[in-house]
Amino acid sequence: MDDLRGFELWKQGAEGRIYRGVFFDRPAVVKERFTKAYRHPSLDQHLTHERFRNEARMLVRCKAAGLKAPTVYYADYQTNRLCLEYFTECRTVKDFIDAKLGESDEKMLVALMELIGKNVALLHDSDMIHGDLTTSNLILPIPHDRLDLHFIDFGLGYVSHSAEDKSVDLYVLERAFLSTHPNTERLFARLMQSYFKACRVDGREIARKFHEVRMRGRKRVMIG
Ligand SMILES: Nc1ncnc2c1ncn2[C@@H]1O[C@H](COP(=O)(O)OP(=O)(O)O)[C@@H](O)[C@H]1O
Ligand SMILES: [Mg+2]
Repeated sequence: MDDLRGFELWKQGAEGRIYRGVFFDRPAVVKERFTKAYRHPSLDQHLTHERFRNEARMLVRCKAAGLKAPTVYYADYQTNRLCLEYFTECRTVKDFIDAKLGESDEKMLVALMELIGKNVALLHDSDMIHGDLTTSNLILPIPHDRLDLHFIDFGLGYVSHSAEDKSVDLYVLERAFLSTHPNTERLFARLMQSYFKACRVDGREIARKFHEVRMRGRKRVMIG
């Protein structure tokens, strides 16, 4: 994908850009990662390429495991550009939660927590670590209320069977969730309940490690 004709710049981030357009008659986005000038150039190129590869690989694996994620239309190893299925008018889980908190739609929120917990458990049961689980990296294509949860943004993702890795993935989610949506401990607890109910592999061990990782996190905060 040397040529992005037909695509327009949609989002500009610190480490990448997202374009949107059409790929063989289908709505598509192109995710492009680039090198940050102030780091070591060859190390940087290597990291950029790794993230691009992780993302392509994990998205495909995710779909193969029966979980939902954008279809990979094209992965260009030369330019580190990834062309993906574009869910037009989808909503991030972050925006959806904010809206439902505003409406005090407890029922919908609980249903969503249960679904996220179950889907993360399925992801982990298939030995996939997302690496950056936040409510902005989960999306709901329209109609949003159908809760058709999709995973995105797998640049830090990898394959691992380790209970420790899975517990850290959960801890990242907890930190991101509670800082993005303050005073939602009760809701997040529903997510965790659903996770452990659905988890088929190493549930007890993951729970044990999760509490350990959490304690370590707390200590770090106290020491500063
Ligand atoms: N395939 C897609 N369909 C619809 N929206 C998307 C898609 N991919 C990304 N987005 C939107 O763009 C945002 C950023 O994409 P993401 O893959 O998370 O990149 P970043 O690494 O910049 O966080 C997402 O939070 C979502 O709102
Ligand atoms: Mg993201």
